[in-house]
Amino acid sequence: MRVFTSQADALSALKAEIGPDCSRCKLHTLGRRQVVFGIGNPNADLMFVGEAPGADEDIQGEPFVGKAGQLLTKIIEAINMKREDVYIANVIKCRPPQNRNPEPDEVVQCEPFLFRQIETIKPKVIVALGKFAAQSLLKTTEPITRIRGREYKYRNAILMPTFHPAFLLRNPSSKREVWEDMKRVRAILTQSADE
Ligand code: URA
Repeated sequence: MRVFTSQADALSALKAEIGPDCSRCKLHTLGRRQVVFGIGNPNADLMFVGEAPGADEDIQGEPFVGKAGQLLTKIIEAINMKREDVYIANVIKCRPPQNRNPEPDEVVQCEPFLFRQIETIKPKVIVALGKFAAQSLLKTTEPITRIRGREYKYRNAILMPTFHPAFLLRNPSSKREVWEDMKRVRAILTQSADE
């Protein structure tokens, strides 16, 4: 068994294990340009998990770089953090065609890699962005309107579901709830730093 000297090394090894030409699910035949692994601080206390790369992410190879991503960056800055401080990943690492929802067989193949990212980074708080990420991680079918803003114990972390930034672009009045959720996230992080 390999022993890694740092979380950064372990993440690099995981990225290499997935490989640039991953063919574990059918998305590699459906027009994806590249695997979008994840980005950020390998020792982050705070991790964001979205659904799957969109068109911009598929081109740039980085999660949340399109319009929704720009709003996510603002959300991170609103709690006095920088994008580089946190880690950002998706449940699915390849773009589904026409941005359709990931299908169950794609999730089964891909989510073990997200679990290993979480195990490596060991964040204190995971923010699940939107219905798909929240329901996948929590293995629930409860609507996002019911689970958002609640704190769940999840793999040694606290998981907080909130609305997806793409939803906020269409429904700006819901930013208020996300701000409440993020204030709570900031409080949890501050409290854990004092312990
Ligand atoms: N939406 C997501 O869920 N993830 C991204 O990386 C971009 C948009």
